[in-house]
Amino acid sequence: MFLYLLLVLFLLIIGCIIYLVFLIQYYHIFFKRQGIATLPLASYLYGHFTILWNAERFSEQLCQWTKQYGSIYGLVAGTRPVYIVSDVSFLQEVFITQFSKFQGRHAPLLTHILGQDRLHVFASSGDQWRRHRRILISAFSYVKLQKMSTKIDECVKNFVHLSNNGDINIFPRLKQFTLDVICRCAFDVRTEVQGNSSNIWLQKVMEIFVRDFDRTPLAMLNRFLPGFGRFWAFLFHIFRTIGLITTPANLWIIENAKDLINERLLQSQKDQNDDNCKDVLQLLIKAVADPEKAQLSLKELLSHVFVIMVSGFDSPSTVLAYCLHTLANRIDLQEKLYKEILINSHSNENTTDDLSKHDLSKYIYLDAFIKEVLRMNPTAVQFVNRQCTQDTEVQGYKILKGSLVQADVYTIHYDSTLWGPLPTDEFHLERHMTKRHPLALLAFGAGPRQCLGLRFAFGRIEVIH
Ligand code: HEM
Repeated sequence: MFLYLLLVLFLLIIGCIIYLVFLIQYYHIFFKRQGIATLPLASYLYGHFTILWNAERFSEQLCQWTKQYGSIYGLVAGTRPVYIVSDVSFLQEVFITQFSKFQGRHAPLLTHILGQDRLHVFASSGDQWRRHRRILISAFSYVKLQKMSTKIDECVKNFVHLSNNGDINIFPRLKQFTLDVICRCAFDVRTEVQGNSSNIWLQKVMEIFVRDFDRTPLAMLNRFLPGFGRFWAFLFHIFRTIGLITTPANLWIIENAKDLINERLLQSQKDQNDDNCKDVLQLLIKAVADPEKAQLSLKELLSHVFVIMVSGFDSPSTVLAYCLHTLANRIDLQEKLYKEILINSHSNENTTDDLSKHDLSKYIYLDAFIKEVLRMNPTAVQFVNRQCTQDTEVQGYKILKGSLVQADVYTIHYDSTLWGPLPTDEFHLERHMTKRHPLALLAFGAGPRQCLGLRFAFGRIEVIH
């Protein structure tokens, strides 16, 4: 009996391997038949999977291949075809024109671990995503940002006060600052995190980026065989229960988000008729409190606390660091921006200290400066992808359901046909005074799934300058 079972297991493993080899060959030949360039297969068993996901710098690797294989090429990343694209017309079709067939992103393991009922706007798709996005979009409008300006001002003053102390490493301070701002503005929570690096929330959000959960073996298996996401999540729960896996920081935040906002949840039960939405959290709580419209569940709300906290923390602090680094090296830019601030302060009769009350739309140079920093240093490039949910054709190329289209953001941002005639490896804010292709700047992604915090992030970066 035992030998019989062993034989079945052996045949099963052999069957899986044959199936894998067949699938990888099939997609590789599929690319060739479509006239899409593709790299020689690194392995019959895992295709291009390891060279794609183990690259030291993902974006640099894509740029390098683009130089060799052109603006649209295919990789067989495990059992999924991946299109790497720097052709903006092709991307425009995927991200905008045919969005209904490309609604989701790659679903990381955490998405499966959370399960359908705990998904947030970043991870959800279809009707669930539309419902999340509709609730959140108004919370991050320019008008709402103006209302948050006093809170941002307070955080900025605290930041300047704490950073005014001789030589310091500004990057950790910026991280504390952005976490402080997002918690104040979105949840009205005073974390007191600035100047306190032992704050548990700061440590957990930082841990997400230091110990990337998406690089752990189970998460890699999920990338390799995305069709078995639920099975990998099931294994994760078992390993976690028997203590083989510790709770990753992202899950810790979601499981503990209630502690952070408990007071507000209790308060909301008392003020059920209060229509004056002062921050994102109140808007989300209102959506939960309205069971008739089935807008949001409490579980989804807690996941949103996580996604807002993490999105509002990492990219903004990195972009701010690039902004300050650029300014430190360019006195001419400092003067240009300072003059613009002074001119606008006079017209508004505000002091330069009170920047958050200014009409930010008048800051033409500041706006162009931030765009140029983002062009040269895009941060969240790996998220600018879309998963195909229905077989389709884009610019004459057949795209199969389940394929992933990944934008090669760096190549696009440094493409002289899109950003010339000024050399694209030099910093020139003037290039943003000319109208460019709508997908030439992909720092916040594109289309209906573009970054939800775009306005908020822009406003915040402008205010700190
Ligand atoms: C400079 C700062 C930021 C950068 C560079 C950035 C970049 C991005 C990028 C590239 C995406 C993927 C877009 C796509 O797939 O087309 C994204 C999505 C997203 N971002 Fe940001 N982001 C920033 C700040 C923020 C802030 C402050 C928030 C909110 C507090 C935020 C919330 C989100 C959300 C919720 C999504 C997912 C949207 C959806 O799937 O519908 N981001 N961001």
